[in-house]
Amino acid sequence: MGNNRIKSHSLSFFIFFFAVFISIHPCCASNPNVTKLVDDVCAKTSNYSFCVDSLYADPLTPEADKISLVNIAFRLAYENASSTQNHIEELLKNNGGSSQCRQCLERCGSDYQKGLSAIGKGMNDLDSENYDLLPGYADDAARSASDCESSFGGSHSPLTFMNNAFKALSEICIVISNLINNPHK
Ligand SMILES: *[C@@H]1O[C@H](CO)[C@@H](O)[C@H](O)[C@H]1NC(C)=O
Ligand SMILES: *[C@@H]1O[C@H](CO)[C@@H](O)[C@H](O)[C@H]1NC(C)=O
Ligand SMILES: *[C@@H]1O[C@H](CO)[C@@H](O)[C@H](O)[C@H]1NC(C)=O
Repeated sequence: MGNNRIKSHSLSFFIFFFAVFISIHPCCASNPNVTKLVDDVCAKTSNYSFCVDSLYADPLTPEADKISLVNIAFRLAYENASSTQNHIEELLKNNGGSSQCRQCLERCGSDYQKGLSAIGKGMNDLDSENYDLLPGYADDAARSASDCESSFGGSHSPLTFMNNAFKALSEICIVISNLINNPHK
């Protein structure tokens, strides 16, 4: 009888360690096996894992060359900024929350309009295979995210997370655009 008790004890220990093993085992980590291009690009951004995760959200990334990848990056940035712009409109409709600075939100609305327009111009140029102005457009987009964030001054910004995302996506666009324009740099 005592023996059975010991057996069930060791069984529960076994299950416990098995569960720990499963949960930390690296087999199913989210970091995919990235292509050399994605690795090169993301190593030049300020947040490697954000860059890899964002690009791999697109199923075409594993087969993408520079040109496909820059198209993917601009589209991701565009989608991200338009969802943030919708969010800003929602906040404004709800009277800017209560403690939020309404003027700051209005300012952000126009910043995001500028950011979207810059990314949109980039996408038009991509359609006509003109690459030389892309770094400038992506730079303007990144600046619009920073402008929005700084419009809150020292006070709490409800958009920090989204501004960081748009800025980081614009940064990816900058890196790939530069890679296309200066392949040997
Ligand atoms: C990805 O995995 C394949 C095979 O599984 C391997 O040949 C390739 O070198 C890997 N690429 C990278 C960047 O690790
Ligand atoms: C990088 O981005 C991830 C989100 O993908 C975030 O959790 C992390 O804090 C970021 N790291 C830095 C150093 O900003
Ligand atoms: C934009 O980026 C943020 C932060 O990574 C993410 O939570 C959000 O889902 C993204 N939105 C789109 C439409 O890509």
